[in-house]
Amino acid sequence: MATTTKTGASKGATANKNATKKATGKSAGSNANSNGSNGADSSSKSKTGGSNGNNGSANGRNGSSAAKSGGKSGAGAGNSQLETYFHDALKDIYWAEKNLTKALPKMMKAATTEELKSAIEEHIAQTEEHVSRLEEVFEIMGKKPQAKKCEAMEGLIKEGESIVEDTEDGSMTRDVGIIMAAQKVEHYEIATYGGLVQLAKTLGMEDAAGILAQTLEEEKQTDEGLTQIAENDINWEAEQEG
Ligand SMILES: [Fe+2]
Repeated sequence: MATTTKTGASKGATANKNATKKATGKSAGSNANSNGSNGADSSSKSKTGGSNGNNGSANGRNGSSAAKSGGKSGAGAGNSQLETYFHDALKDIYWAEKNLTKALPKMMKAATTEELKSAIEEHIAQTEEHVSRLEEVFEIMGKKPQAKKCEAMEGLIKEGESIVEDTEDGSMTRDVGIIMAAQKVEHYEIATYGGLVQLAKTLGMEDAAGILAQTLEEEKQTDEGLTQIAENDINWEAEQEG
């Protein structure tokens, strides 16, 4: 089903006019699903998993090195280059999450549909929790929470803002744009947390890994939720508004 949907998708945008609502909606869906590396729904799960898989596997050997480092004390393991890198990456995502707590309310306000507004609202609450979890991880490391500007997230947030500027207030096209911008953010976070979970394990910080894994799971759910909102007619309705 996924494959059919996907094929219909690319053609959908043009073939659209005489297609049925459902079919068109779907096709638009998998488009914005560029939204998804996610692509079509059934593959989306494995893909998302895949991207973590990648992180996992990028650090894949870590699985075994985690075991090797089992003897080390982990959190207090010292100042190896890897631990310094991990600490820097934490500062980066800490900055990103904190700035998202400021950017998301603007996105929520700008969104057209109640559905998207409430999805963003829910994600704001989650993001605040993500900030607190990162603070716990800093604490586990015996460090003070510290933010370091994340250029990537700054760019993604700016992109979201310019989408709002470039789309009409109250339009469905604006929601399509916000969804795609939000999914780019989610994918950045999924990649980051996927890597951090593996590194925490490698460094012997099992507790930190568990905390980061919770956030990773929530980011994945948010991403999938956004895909569903796009596919449940927002894309199609945007196509209809001309
Ligand atoms: Fe987050």
